[in-house]
Amino acid sequence: MGLEQSDVDAIQRSWEIVKETAKLRVHGINFFELMFEMIPEWREKYFSHLGNKTSAKFRSHATMIMMTLDSWIENLDDLDLVVDAVLRVGQTHADRDILSPQFVEINKVVIAYLQTGLGDKFTEEMKESWIKLLDTVVTIVKDGNAGLE
Ligand code: HEM
Repeated sequence: MGLEQSDVDAIQRSWEIVKETAKLRVHGINFFELMFEMIPEWREKYFSHLGNKTSAKFRSHATMIMMTLDSWIENLDDLDLVVDAVLRVGQTHADRDILSPQFVEINKVVIAYLQTGLGDKFTEEMKESWIKLLDTVVTIVKDGNAGLE
């Protein structure tokens, strides 16, 4: 996956701070709010069937995304496992015509979310390590979708 141990440490350290500030389900909702601010057209295009943030369906989905991210980060010491998990997410999303370009876009939201949430605690080292991880996610999704995109 091209991540050094120092990247894994930086990512896990920053994620710990994120998790200390609120439950993942709260981060899920906040993340979606930021996503709809940054990419407003996605609300209607991909997520209208989930309702608004008061609906259980929406909240459960927002929580699921965060839990998936959480499991990738917690398991970075077993990269093969994470690669397989990312491939699976890539496949289920490709079935919905959500391909690597959309992952590139959501990754920008992830970085912005961390930047906003962590402020000064989000060091340049952490940011670079996150970008490495998220770029790798895009590569895995793209390779997994070979022939489709
Ligand atoms: C870090 C990237 C992402 C993660 C970790 C993630 C995670 C998940 C998970 C765990 C599910 C539920 C299981 C499944 O159907 O696969 C899901 C569903 C879904 N995701 Fe993602 N996703 C990501 C990126 C995206 C992007 C970029 C989009 C749209 C542009 C998207 C749209 C959806 C939609 C529409 C569903 C189905 C929701 C439903 O009907 O319940 N996801 N995602």
